[in-house]
This record gives sequence, structure tokens and C-alpha cells, in this order.
Amino acid sequence: MRVILELVLILVLSTAQCGSTTKVPRSDCQKQCGHIDMEYPFGIGTDCSFNGGFDINCTNQNGVFKPFIGDFELLNISLTQSTVRVLNFITAYCYNSSGSMEVSGPRGFNGTNTPYRLSDVRNKFTVVGCNTLGYIVDDGNRRYQSGCVSTCRNLSDLVDGVCSGMGCCQTAIPNGMYYYRAGFDMGFNTSQTWSYAVLMEASEFNFSTAYINSTRFNDTNAGRVPMVVDWAFRGEGSCVTAERNETGDYACLSSNSKCVNSTNGPGYFCNCSQGYEGNPYLPDGCRDTNECNRHPCPSGGVCHNTIGGYYCSCRAGRKFSGETNACNPDIGLIIGVIAGFLALMSIAFCRHMIIQRRKLNKIKQEYFRQHGGTLLFERMKSEKGLAFTVFSEAELIHATNNFDKSRIIGQGGHGTVYKGMVKDDMQVAIKRCALIDERQKKEFGQEMLILSQINHKNIVKLLGCCLEVEVPMLVYEFIPNGTLFELIHRKNQGLQISFGTLLRIAHEAAEGLHFLHSYASPPILHGDVKTANILLDKNHMAKVSDFGASILAPSDKEQFVTMVQGTCGYLYPEYMQTCQLTDKSDVYSFGVIILEILTGEVPLKLVGPEMQRSLSSVFLSAMKENNLDSVLASHVKGQESMELIRGLAELAKQCLDMCGSNRPSMKEIADELGRLRKLSPHPWVQDDAEIEIESLLGGPSTTTNGFEIVTSTGYATEERENLPMNPGSSYYAR
Ligand SMILES: *[C@@H]1O[C@H](CO)[C@@H](O)[C@H](O)[C@H]1NC(C)=O
Ligand SMILES: *[C@@H]1O[C@H](CO)[C@@H](O)[C@H](O)[C@H]1NC(C)=O
Ligand SMILES: *[C@@H]1O[C@H](CO)[C@@H](O)[C@H](O)[C@H]1NC(C)=O
Ligand SMILES: *[C@@H]1O[C@H](CO)[C@@H](O)[C@H](O)[C@H]1NC(C)=O
Ligand SMILES: *[C@@H]1O[C@H](CO)[C@@H](O)[C@H](O)[C@H]1NC(C)=O
Ligand SMILES: *[C@@H]1O[C@H](CO)[C@@H](O)[C@H](O)[C@H]1NC(C)=O
Ligand SMILES: *[C@@H]1O[C@H](CO)[C@@H](O)[C@H](O)[C@H]1NC(C)=O
Ligand SMILES: *[C@@H]1O[C@H](CO)[C@@H](O)[C@H](O)[C@H]1NC(C)=O
Ligand SMILES: *[C@@H]1O[C@H](CO)[C@@H](O)[C@H](O)[C@H]1NC(C)=O
Ligand SMILES: *[C@@H]1O[C@H](CO)[C@@H](O)[C@H](O)[C@H]1NC(C)=O
Ligand SMILES: *[C@@H]1O[C@H](CO)[C@@H](O)[C@H](O)[C@H]1NC(C)=O
Ligand SMILES: *[C@@H]1O[C@H](CO)[C@@H](O)[C@H](O)[C@H]1NC(C)=O
Repeated sequence: MRVILELVLILVLSTAQCGSTTKVPRSDCQKQCGHIDMEYPFGIGTDCSFNGGFDINCTNQNGVFKPFIGDFELLNISLTQSTVRVLNFITAYCYNSSGSMEVSGPRGFNGTNTPYRLSDVRNKFTVVGCNTLGYIVDDGNRRYQSGCVSTCRNLSDLVDGVCSGMGCCQTAIPNGMYYYRAGFDMGFNTSQTWSYAVLMEASEFNFSTAYINSTRFNDTNAGRVPMVVDWAFRGEGSCVTAERNETGDYACLSSNSKCVNSTNGPGYFCNCSQGYEGNPYLPDGCRDTNECNRHPCPSGGVCHNTIGGYYCSCRAGRKFSGETNACNPDIGLIIGVIAGFLALMSIAFCRHMIIQRRKLNKIKQEYFRQHGGTLLFERMKSEKGLAFTVFSEAELIHATNNFDKSRIIGQGGHGTVYKGMVKDDMQVAIKRCALIDERQKKEFGQEMLILSQINHKNIVKLLGCCLEVEVPMLVYEFIPNGTLFELIHRKNQGLQISFGTLLRIAHEAAEGLHFLHSYASPPILHGDVKTANILLDKNHMAKVSDFGASILAPSDKEQFVTMVQGTCGYLYPEYMQTCQLTDKSDVYSFGVIILEILTGEVPLKLVGPEMQRSLSSVFLSAMKENNLDSVLASHVKGQESMELIRGLAELAKQCLDMCGSNRPSMKEIADELGRLRKLSPHPWVQDDAEIEIESLLGGPSTTTNGFEIVTSTGYATEERENLPMNPGSSYYAR
């Protein structure tokens, strides 16, 4: 039993040794000496240090404990640099009591068989004095001797802080030195000054001129100056061999501890791996560094500590830039975000546009349907060869250059007339109306169809319409030569317009109106017969326009209630009572046209005595008083045969009868005018006169007798004195 226990114990001990576990200092080791921390492998006592080389002598000097390595007081231990700083003794060269020169003080450093090497990087052999040659001699492991001379040709040349050979000199030492001895060359006469030599930490030396003729250098440092000593585990050679040597005490076994080759002499030491700090010689001595405490991340970055490292991240929208070592705004990301945003916006916009367009199309279709477009289309399909076009809104916009103001050829309360070009070369007049009443919308297409079929030489041809807008637009053939109104009322001073011409035009207009009235059943009524609506083509042939304003005569009672439209002066009197538009309403208006031709006066004057304002009243009262001559135009008086004048006056009087049923029909008027024309003394000579007229009417004028007509082309639809009872009525409104 005992044997087995002992065996186990031996096994355990041997495995412990074989496993080359980390050497651990005793737990009760003194942690400090004086103010200096005893960091393993250094320790006070052999059990507390890694080996004898790291044993620190902690000695009480005058009541203060101080650590010593040999004779040298220990100042600092650095594990990461693998250095210690000790106080080295200054060697002096001075007079002894008997007046001879003598070297005094300890004379060097003996690091034989210790972990220590004199740091060739941080130390300098320093000599202070005048005419002094100081030696540094290594007769330990090798033969080495060097030194430097300090001269003083003139003491006043010495400079504080400069050690350049005057009063002071310094020299480097070789790598791997562990022994040195200082000396002076006796051949130099230094009798006048103090001479010192010491190997010391270069950064700690600052030459002062006072060092030359006083003991200040020795006194301020109490005979000792700092010196840096490198230490390492020397026996094993480099890291590679040390790691392999199973019998040796490899020092860098604890976790996160790594081996570092000694740079000064053979051997190695340990350091914590990157990202760890602490004591690499103790088990778990290397602790993770919280690098973030050092704020290693560039500005704008966020530090994240990890085991053995850290990483920086930039805040959202920023990107690490190696060039500036900073988190800069991530232009790519920003561009991406902006591009994405723009893309989203444009998609949304396109969607919006598509929806809007669909909506618009729907609205267009809705208008088209409301205005009877579907019906119109079907009829047009069945009646092939119809010269009628249903224009799209876009076509008309194109034709009028988006309803450009310069294209306006007529304007009035009912709407605006534009000149336009369709199908590249066809001149048309496009009427864009102001309003349309609800009821009329439904039949609009159908009416258009009927109107479009009207084909008479004295009626302006309706070429098409546009139904897909709120208020339909009408497209007429373009008539270039002004109106009858202009012919009668705008004659230039002294110009005689052939009465025969006017008569012919009136006759043609009557033929046109007759055609309208007789074309269909119920009859198509014009509704706004006036001289301004009788256009003249290039041959001065009458063309009745604006019959688009007319309607098919109402066939049921319900339709009578709708509004009447017309122009003051031409209005038939019964509208007040019946509000009803009949073919006899057009006849009344035509009577006014005959009056205009006879008298050369406008139907309604805005000035003058109240009784004199209405041409028809003036005429009728003149007729009653049998005083026709007083109202006749001067160029009519006497020029024309009295029979013709009387015939016309009689016709006009009939037309102006207060009772509609008493008025002649349009056919009767046309026939009568045809008959009367033959009575003209020069019935067929108008053409000569017309040439004259043409040249005089060439330019457009804008105002005549207080009437407003935009151009001479004759599409003016409205005079200023609109019918008060029907102020905003549409062109089509009844
Ligand atoms: C420790 O240092 C003191 C003073 O230098 C010396 O007297 C003493 O002998 C040293 N002890 C050891 C163990 O080295
Ligand atoms: C070295 O030790 C001295 C005195 O013990 C101390 O003042 C100094 O701060 C230490 N330096 C380092 C780098 O530890
Ligand atoms: C030891 O490691 C520390 C921290 O990783 C580093 O700053 C130091 O320079 C290293 N020492 C040597 C001699 O490599
Ligand atoms: C002074 O130094 C000289 C030369 O080194 C020496 O011979 C003499 O003994 C010294 N005197 C004393 C008192 O130490
Ligand atoms: C240095 O010290 C060792 C013992 O530590 C000794 O053997 C050697 O002789 C000394 N060297 C000199 C030059 O004094
Ligand atoms: C030393 O320099 C000072 C000023 O430069 C001069 O006055 C003096 O004579 C010099 N002494 C010697 C010994 O050259
Ligand atoms: C050296 O000492 C002088 C004054 O004696 C001072 O001006 C200078 O800054 C010191 N230089 C260093 C490196 O300490
Ligand atoms: C050294 O120089 C001083 C004065 O410059 C002189 O008095 C002395 O004799 C010299 N000593 C020797 C040994 O030359
Ligand atoms: C040392 O020399 C300087 C001039 O170089 C002088 O001012 C100073 O008094 C001298 N000090 C001593 C103790 O001789
Ligand atoms: C240097 O200073 C130390 C301590 O103050 C003293 O023991 C030593 O004798 C001095 N040496 C010289 C040469 O003055
Ligand atoms: C291994 O280590 C032991 C003890 O430190 C030493 O005596 C031996 O020479 C080393 N072997 C090698 C190959 O370095
Ligand atoms: C240490 O030195 C040896 C030989 O000089 C070399 O093979 C090895 O790579 C070095 N190790 C390190 C960690 O530098």
C-alpha cells in the first residue's frame, strides 16, 4: 500500500516536471521593496525569483528599504522591454590627500554569469573634464577598449547642455557587453579641473559647465547615475532552442505569452501576445488589453474590444479611410442612398404620372362617352365615306400650337376661335367653347353627326369635333375673307360697295339658312343669325357659319325650357314670352340683316335717343310713317330701283313681324330675294365691285361702332352687349 502511494507520488511529481509547467513564485513572496514592485521573474529570495539571476537584495538603508542587484540599486523593472534601470557609480580622477592624481570610487560593472547585458542602445560612456582621456575597458569575455578625449582650450567656450568633446565627451558601447571598467590616461594634465567617467543612460545626462571646476556632477547625483541593463534567459540560446529544450526551464509557457529573442546577448525573454498585457511569466498573467481605453479608433469611429484585440467601426453612413485614418462620410453609401432615394422618387413619380395619365385618359373617355362619342363612332362606321373627323385633344393642341394667343381669330363670350392646321396643310377654324349645358352633352355627338352631313355651298362645313374634353371643340373649314358685317359696316370713307353684291350675299345666306331649315326633320335652327355670322370665302360667296350653335328644332315640350341664345338687335321678339327657338326666330334675325343692307346701320346703337337705338324699331316706325327714305343708306337712295328697295323693305317688314307665324319661311325669303335681285339695275356686275372691296378690306381692323371683332376673318361670335338673360350660356346652349 505504502509502496503504491509512493509510486503514485513519484509519478505525479515526474509528470509535473515533465509537463514543463510554468514556474510559479511562492504566494507569500514580498511584492514590493520600497516603492518598487517586484515583478516575476524578479523576486526577493530564491523561491520568489525565477532563478538566482533575478534575485533582488532588499536592504534597509537608513530606515528605507531599497532593492539591489548586486551592489547596484534597482530603479525600475520593465517586463515588456526586458530592461532594468540601476544606479551606476561615477568614477572620479582627482587629487588624493598627498596631492597626487588618483582614480577613486568603484570602477565598473561585472555581469559575468548573470542575465544582464549593458544596454548598447540607451547607455553612453560619458567623460567629464578638461584634457581628460577616459577609457572603457572590457576584459571579461572579450578584449575591448575604447574611450574619449575631452579638451578645454578656453573654458569660456564651453556650452551648457552640449556634450561635444569640449569639457565633456560621450561614446557608444558595443552590443552584448556585460563587463566594463573605467580608467583615465595619466598622460593628460588634468590638474586644473575635475574629471569623471561613467557608463550611464544617455537621456539622463545634461552637461553643465559647472561640472568642470566643481564636484557638482558627483554631488547632484550622490555619486550614482542611472544605467540601463537588458536582461534575458541566457542559457538556452534563442527562442527556438529554448522551446525545444525539455530539461530547461522555459519561461514563456503561460497562455498568450510569446517568446522574444534577446537583442543584446544570447537568450530570450517573454512578452504577452499582441492584444494582451500583463506579466507573461505568470500563469494567466497576460490579460486581454482593453485597447479601447487608449482610444485607438480614428475620429468618428466606435471602438470594440475583443479578446486579444479590438476593432473599430464607423458610425452609420461613414466609412473607414486608410489614407486619412478617419471615419469619413461614406460617399459611396451616401451616393447609393441618394441614388436609391432618387430612384424611389422617380418610380413613385412615374407611377403617379401613369396613374394621372390613366385618370386623364379615363376622364377623356368619360367626356367622349358623355358627349355621345361612342354613338357617333358607331354611326360613322356604318355610314362610311363621311367627311367628318373626330379629333383627339392632342391633335388640336398641335394644330393650334397649344392654343397660342397669336392663333386667335375670333373671341366672344361663347368661346374662342383659333386658326389651325390639321393634317399638315389643311387650314381650319377651331372653336373652343366656354361652357356646355348638361343636357346637351348627351346628344352632342349625334348632333355633330347630323351637322357634319350638311353639305351646302353657302354653309361653312363642319369638318370634325373633339369630344374628349370637358367642352367639346368644333373644327370648321377655314373661310378667309371676313364677314358680311365688315362688308356693310366697315366700308371705308366714300367706298361704294355694290348693293347688288350685298344682295347676292344675302340671297346666298338665305339659301344656306333655307337648306338648314329644310335639311332635316325636325329642322336645324341656326339660332344666331347675324351679319357677323355670314362669312365670305375667297370669291365673296356667303357661307353661313356658327350653325354649330344651332340645334335640331326641339320635338318635345321639355326641351322648350332651355335657354335661348342670340345677339341683341337680331333677337326675335317672342323670346320674351316663349323662350322658344323656332325657324321663324332665324327669319326674324334675317330680317334685321336685310335692314342692315338697306340702311347701312348697325342693328343696335349704344348711343343716341332710346327710340333710335334699335334699327328694327326705327325701320318699322319709318315704314308706318311711309318715310322709308329717311332710313335708307345714302348709296342706296336713288341708285337702286324703287321697286327693289320697296320689295326688300316689305320683305324685311314681314320678317320682323311680331307674330312668328306671320313671317315668311326661309324658302320664301330666298325665292323673294332671287326675284328682287333681277330688279337691280345692274344685277350681274358685282364682280367688278368686289375686286375693289377686296383690296380695301384686306387688313384686319379691330373696332367698329363700338363692336369688338378681333379679326376680319369672321369667326367673331359675340358682341359686347350679350343678352342679359343668358349671360354665361354656351355656344351650344339653347
Ligand atoms: C545585500 O546588499 C547589502 C548592501 O549592498 C549587502 O550588505 C548584503 O550583503 C547583500 N546581501 C546579499 C544576500 O547579497
Ligand atoms: C523608475 O523608477 C523611478 C524611481 O523608482 C521612478 O520615479 C520612475 O517613474 C520609474 N520609471 C519607470 C518608467 O517606471
Ligand atoms: C512586448 O509587447 C508589448 C505589447 O504587445 C509591446 O509594446 C512591446 O514592444 C513588446 N516588447 C518587445 C521587446 O517586443
Ligand atoms: C596618492 O597617490 C599617489 C599616486 O597614485 C600614491 O602614490 C600615494 O600613496 C597616494 N597617497 C595617499 C595618501 O593615498
Ligand atoms: C567577475 O565576477 C566573476 C564572478 O562573478 C569572477 O569570476 C570574475 O573574475 C570577475 N571578473 C573580473 C574582471 O573581476
Ligand atoms: C579665452 O576666451 C576669452 C574670450 O573669448 C578670452 O578673453 C581669453 O583670453 C581666452 N583665454 C585663453 C587662455 O585663450
Ligand atoms: C540641460 O540643462 C540646461 C541648463 O542647465 C537646460 O537648459 C536644458 O534644458 C537641459 N537639457 C536637458 C535635455 O535636460
Ligand atoms: C599641470 O599643469 C599645471 C598648470 O597648467 C602645472 O602647474 C603642473 O606642473 C602640470 N603638471 C604636470 C605633471 O605636468
Ligand atoms: C568655475 O568656473 C566658472 C567660469 O568658468 C566660474 O564662474 C566659477 O566661479 C568657477 N567655480 C569654481 C568653484 O571655481
Ligand atoms: C562622490 O559622491 C559620493 C557621495 O556623495 C562620495 O561618497 C564620493 O566621495 C564623491 N567622490 C568624489 C570624487 O568627490
Ligand atoms: C537545456 O537546459 C539545460 C538547463 O537549463 C541546460 O543545461 C542545457 O544546456 C540546455 N540544452 C540546450 C540544448 O540548450
Ligand atoms: C530567434 O533566433 C533564432 C536564431 O537566431 C531564429 O531562428 C528564430 O526565428 C528567432 N525567433 C524569433 C521569435 O525571432
